[in-house]
Amino acid sequence: MGIMWSKILSTGLPWQDAQHIELFNRVGALLDAINKGQGIEEVESLFTFLDEYFVFHFDAEEQAMHGANYPDLTIHMTEHHRFIEDVARLKREGISGKPPAELIKKMERAMVDWLVNHIGGMDKELGDFLIKFEHT
Ligand SMILES: [Fe+2]
Ligand SMILES: [Fe+2]
Repeated sequence: MGIMWSKILSTGLPWQDAQHIELFNRVGALLDAINKGQGIEEVESLFTFLDEYFVFHFDAEEQAMHGANYPDLTIHMTEHHRFIEDVARLKREGISGKPPAELIKKMERAMVDWLVNHIGGMDKELGDFLIKFEHT
């Protein structure tokens, strides 16, 4: 896998970083399985495994945003919902037997969008806000 979590993506909040690292791990496991040409059942279960963690993680961020009256909650949530839809769409493609190379290219593009752009942008802003909120 070409894309890894790095300190540059740290939001400064340990729980948020730990969950982001877990997301990277789950995406990595899924990409590996597709890459190795694992069976549809295996790929499907890894998609489910990833999706569950997205839901868990987004829920954690949503609760933190509510708790701190975060002003950008709506726009942040909209992006989360889009990722959940992306996972569902990619899962459908993955289990319909789309050629692995094509699927991997799409997954990698989605991953940059989900993990690098979102975490490096909106999540870092959220992290900064929450850290300031905790100290007021
Ligand atoms: Fe996040
Ligand atoms: Fe987020």
